Amino acid sequence: MANIEAAGIKTFETPPGRRLVLALEDAGIDILHRCGGYAKCTTCRVEVLEGDPGEINPRERARLAREGDLAPNIRLSCQMLVDGDLTLRVINRLSETDLSDAGPRPSDELPAADD
Ligand code: FES
Repeated sequence: MANIEAAGIKTFETPPGRRLVLALEDAGIDILHRCGGYAKCTTCRVEVLEGDPGEINPRERARLAREGDLAPNIRLSCQMLVDGDLTLRVINRLSETDLSDAGPRPSDELPAADD
C-alpha cells in the first residue's frame, strides 16, 4: 500500500496503480475533476510536496504546457497512477467553490491516447 498525505486534510493508504484522483476522492477528499479525468480542465491539479510522482504521460505534459507558468511539481491527479508514498496539496476542492458537484467520476483506467 502507498501512504498518501493530503496536506492539511488527511493521510490514507491506497493500492499502487490507482489513479490518484480516485484515491483522493474515495478517501473522502472533495477534489475537483470537472472534465472527468481527460486532462482537459486542470481542476484536479495537485502540488507534489514530497515523494516521487512518477512519469508524466504525453497527455498530461501537453495540457500542463498550455498553462505556461505552472511549477514542475504541479501535476494532474487524473493522469497520475499511484506509485509510492506521496505528500501533496490538493489545489481545488468542491467545498471551496460555488459549484454543485466535483465533475463526472473518472473511470478506473486512464483514457486511451485518442480519447
Ligand atoms: S484535467 Fe480534468 S479531471 Fe484532470
